[in-house]
Amino acid sequence: MPSFIERLLFPAPRLDLAALGRRLEGRTVLVTGASFGIGEQVARIAGRAGARVLLVARTASRLEEVAADIAADGGIAQGLPCDFSDGAAVERLAAALPAVDIFVSNAGKSIRRPILASLGRPQDVTRTGAINYLAPCRLALAAMPGLVARKGQIINVSAANVLLPPAPGWAAYQASKTAFDQWLRSAAPELRAVGVAVSSIYLPLVRTRMIAPTRSYDRVPAMSPEHAAHHVAAAILTRSRRWRPWWLPPVQLAAALAGSAWEPLAEHRAQSAVR
Ligand SMILES: NC(=O)c1ccc[n+]([C@@H]2O[C@H](COP(=O)([O-])OP(=O)(O)OC[C@H]3O[C@@H](n4cnc5c(N)ncnc54)[C@H](OP(=O)(O)O)[C@@H]3O)[C@@H](O)[C@H]2O)c1
Repeated sequence: MPSFIERLLFPAPRLDLAALGRRLEGRTVLVTGASFGIGEQVARIAGRAGARVLLVARTASRLEEVAADIAADGGIAQGLPCDFSDGAAVERLAAALPAVDIFVSNAGKSIRRPILASLGRPQDVTRTGAINYLAPCRLALAAMPGLVARKGQIINVSAANVLLPPAPGWAAYQASKTAFDQWLRSAAPELRAVGVAVSSIYLPLVRTRMIAPTRSYDRVPAMSPEHAAHHVAAAILTRSRRWRPWWLPPVQLAAALAGSAWEPLAEHRAQSAVR
């Protein structure tokens, strides 16, 4: 049950399920990261709405469970297991990808680690880069001919932090999420010109496996994964260019007006974390 503050910060979107059904009936939706969290909920909503859902993630057993649940509800779903940190596996998936109407790029890996604790861990950069940036680009390129032919849609499940000043401790995650956001937004005008919708969903904190290791988030307001998935479904329905929480534009404005004034605060927080 969301708290009062969560209801205030994250009002639930109105979702016309009948209209979503008309939009998705007979369409093919590719959802990456469909084994857990937000992607799982997006896959379930799309399956219930009548789409054929292609489920991508590493955990094949979870993809089978989600596909079986969707089939039990009368839908059609197929698991396509793939590890995005394995470039050859991503190439195989890209080569075998059927034409899709909607590509929901959602799979993601988050790392919170101070930079001086990362010196022997170049894999933090290469893995987040592969999972959050390179694999989504590769799959989007593979899906593009079908998306253009079907006047389809690409939806990027992005993070609100991408639109805010960079936060210490999150260098690898933030850089890789920002890279895909920029790549897709740069391509968006070209894609829209040929009838492909591009939507970026800038999510705040969402209560999933991803944030569980960060104990300080236990007390911070967060969305449920079902709620976050409703924003993705609303974007499918409206083909809107972006969704962000109502309070993000004023926070962005405050950050822009503050200029570099926030930097001593970030440094103070980083020093406290190091001590
Ligand atoms: N939770 C938040 O607060 C939050 C906030 C803003 C944005 N987001 C974004 O929301 C998206 C979904 O995250 P979530 O919160 O739902 O986290 P989650 O529950 O951990 O789900 C992440 C999904 O990505 C898949 N994945 C992870 N590593 C993978 C790999 N190497 N290859 C293929 N798939 C992989 C996972 O499946 P397997 O483990 O089975 O591979 C899982 O299905 C991410 O892009 C994240 O950046 C989350």
